[in-house]
Amino acid sequence: MAEDAKPAGPDLTKGVALSDLADGGMLVGHVGGDEILLVRRGNEVFAVGAQCSHYHGPLAEGLLVGDTVRCPWHHACFSLRTGEPLHPPALSPIDCWSVEQRGGKAFVKEKQAAKPVARPMPVNPPGRIVIVGGGAAGFAAAEMLRRQDYKGSIVMLSDDDAGPVDRPNLSKDYLAGSAPADWIPLRGDDYYKDNGIDLRLKANVTAIDARAREVTLGDGGKVPYDRLLLATGAEPVRLQLPGADLPHVHTLRSLADSTAIVARATTAKRAVVIGASFIGLEVAASLRARQIEVHVVAPEKRPMERILGPAMGDLVRALHEEKGVIFHLEDAPVAIEGKQVRLKSGGALEADLVVMGVGVRPRLALAEKAGLTIDKGLVVSARLETNAPGIFAAGDIARWPDPHSGQTIRVEHWVVAERQGQTAALNMLGHGVVFDAVPFFWSQHYDMPINYVGHAEKWDEIAVEGDIAARDCLVRYKLGGRILAAASIYRDVASLQAEVAMERETT
Ligand SMILES: Cc1cc2nc3c(=O)[nH]c(=O)nc-3n(C[C@H](O)[C@H](O)[C@H](O)COP(=O)(O)OP(=O)(O)OC[C@H]3O[C@@H](n4cnc5c(N)ncnc54)[C@H](O)[C@@H]3O)c2cc1C
Ligand code: FES
Repeated sequence: MAEDAKPAGPDLTKGVALSDLADGGMLVGHVGGDEILLVRRGNEVFAVGAQCSHYHGPLAEGLLVGDTVRCPWHHACFSLRTGEPLHPPALSPIDCWSVEQRGGKAFVKEKQAAKPVARPMPVNPPGRIVIVGGGAAGFAAAEMLRRQDYKGSIVMLSDDDAGPVDRPNLSKDYLAGSAPADWIPLRGDDYYKDNGIDLRLKANVTAIDARAREVTLGDGGKVPYDRLLLATGAEPVRLQLPGADLPHVHTLRSLADSTAIVARATTAKRAVVIGASFIGLEVAASLRARQIEVHVVAPEKRPMERILGPAMGDLVRALHEEKGVIFHLEDAPVAIEGKQVRLKSGGALEADLVVMGVGVRPRLALAEKAGLTIDKGLVVSARLETNAPGIFAAGDIARWPDPHSGQTIRVEHWVVAERQGQTAALNMLGHGVVFDAVPFFWSQHYDMPINYVGHAEKWDEIAVEGDIAARDCLVRYKLGGRILAAASIYRDVASLQAEVAMERETT
């Protein structure tokens, strides 16, 4: 808090009358400079940090579920008892304070150290765990292993030259120039040393020997394992066009990719974004924030219609047009010739920066070569184990049996990758946990967030609560009367409630 900023709400050391805090009620106050969320649940009163440890979302605007609170912005969930981050994208605890009840009032007392509750360690936990991939799933797995007090060795192998980063930010604030570079690493270098995580960068894993239980690196080195997690993610598709390999034509996956786009954006005047998907349009928004003229070329009639339906697609288009983006829909690039992108429709667009956001393909080569079962993704069980005992998979590569849709699905969502990484970590220790999280993703366009819970590949009804054009809505995607997914704009509590309802439906 800035030195002259006034702390929010009442001074909680002076006590809050319980009659002013209804059961299930939340109130924001402070102790010194700390902003605190006071929560009443029956006869218990909890005091925790008021802001989410992910991007500082206001927890008071979230949802209480049992003795947890969920963040309104990206659905992180925290224990009110211990502050533990129970659901990503938060991976750090929030602070907790002790509360004394006296004379019909609740007084907030001392700050307490966060104490995650580790499960009892199974007998004979594996001695050596190797994680292939330093992304969302790989990092969340390593973090969970140490949170569970796992004492064995963890080796994390990543062929990237940067450690685990906040990948969603690479198309948003970092690209727009509003997030400094030091926000991007998920943890500082010391974290890995302090937690005994042997993070090896530029370490390309080229083979797995499932019998000998070891992986081979590009330089011929071998790393033995007792349990292996494959979390190799996905790579962006580069359209096979003449000129697609020119230096001003970019794709976006890694920190290096985003930094290269930022470097070019400092002098670029006109950009063409190929693809009107989430990443393409987030890139368009970030380049507009840098005052660059942006043209979006894509084959579909409406952006994002396949995932969000026609009305949400129209809204997304209208928003980007308001901000100056020029769409060339139902069209496609056929060649990039110097600074010109030639279109199928016959015209050409000038561009000193081209970004292809035309989707990704899961990085399956390693799993395929090892003979693991592949079916449009690496097939895993409900416990995220592959057909090779001891080899688990999580994140963008994994196709798992989703109990909510009743299908096996593979998605490309940050929070799903993290939650799968955590579940795989527990299962590599032997806990046998079924992965049953409701899929969730968010996307950000200028100041408009879109939150999406569930998974609907097709639907026969779209039910709208609120007003899509007014950017205030909860949109439910139904099949045969059953709600498969819900997208929302500025209806955060309704989105959280939809998530909880889907969780309860299958438990
Ligand atoms: C720019 C951008 C913005 C996004 N924004 C959002 C968003 O707003 N919301 C959302 O829900 N999702 C978003 N996503 C998607 C999300 O980032 C992914 O779903 C998530 O990162 C998947 O995690 P993962 O661990 O499976 O893979 P990744 O995070 O991609 O990590 C894979 C890791 O494996 C390494 N690797 C691969 N093969 C090998 C090998 N053979 N040897 C060694 N290492 C290897 C890679 O270097 C990398 O470190 C975004 C993605 C991008 C690129
Ligand atoms: S700010 Fe809370 S989950 Fe992102």
